[in-house]
Amino acid sequence: MLDIKTAIAQGADILATAGITEPRLTAQVLLAHALGRDRTYLYIHPEEPLSTVAWIHFGRYLHERTQGKPLQHILKSVEFYGRSYTITPGVLIPRPETEHVVERALALAPAKTPNALRIADICTGSGILAITLALEIPGAAVEASDISPAALAVAQTNSAALGAKIGFAVCDLMDALPGPYGLIVANPPYIPTLEIDNLDREVRDYDPRLALDGGPDGLEFYRRLIPQAWKALAPGGWFVTEIGYDQGATVPALFSTGWCDINVTNDLAGHPRVVEARRR
Ligand SMILES: C[S@@+](CC[C@H](N)C(=O)[O-])C[C@H]1O[C@@H](n2cnc3c(N)ncnc32)[C@H](O)[C@@H]1O
Repeated sequence: MLDIKTAIAQGADILATAGITEPRLTAQVLLAHALGRDRTYLYIHPEEPLSTVAWIHFGRYLHERTQGKPLQHILKSVEFYGRSYTITPGVLIPRPETEHVVERALALAPAKTPNALRIADICTGSGILAITLALEIPGAAVEASDISPAALAVAQTNSAALGAKIGFAVCDLMDALPGPYGLIVANPPYIPTLEIDNLDREVRDYDPRLALDGGPDGLEFYRRLIPQAWKALAPGGWFVTEIGYDQGATVPALFSTGWCDINVTNDLAGHPRVVEARRR
């Protein structure tokens, strides 16, 4: 019977042959998942024989990964800002870059307000931004919307699992969220429609199109959302949004004179990734 270290070596070979990046690490993560253990267990028990059931699960996961299924969909979970979130095919896989939205929002969130800070997360998907802010800013009142009922169901599952109290609405952008808010965050779809077919197959085939398609030039959601956010913000309130790597000039240009303190933050790869602006 195969032991853990041999299974990892064989799994890594299969993944490498299929052109999967980081084959050894991926094999370890998949094997740990098949065993219902964390990765440390594999290092401590390299000689342990694999049960038939674990071997069958591991084989299936390897096959799915070689066919292009993202690791996160095989594991059905993703880490974001130090917490674990359930995901399904109905939501975008949360990206590490989106943590920069959290960082900026936490830096800008008014430290003291007479009432609880009201926060809205538009296009919430799996709920990562709303839930992180609710848990990182105790006492904040957080509302979140998405047009996809399937996505909101995932966000509700995550908020219940992580103990975050959030008001959810299925609606188009801010239609059901009139405010007033002290902080609005968003990660709307921003890929130009014609570029979607050229994306990596893991994005193109597994992230919902509804989560990607930003219209002909990728800016459709910002054009609609920025004026809505202005109306729903209290004077002095902040809007913080993720943008595409090449939208560092086009998105800031959409803010009218009713806004001030417009600033772009780069991600770790040096690409413009977050735009913030304050309602005058
Ligand atoms: C890029 S994903 C972001 C998901 C999540 N906030 C994150 O950062 O991982 C965009 C989300 O916008 C939602 N969406 C698309 N069109 C929308 C609309 N008109 N109104 C509200 N949400 C919309 C999609 O369902 C998707 O969940």
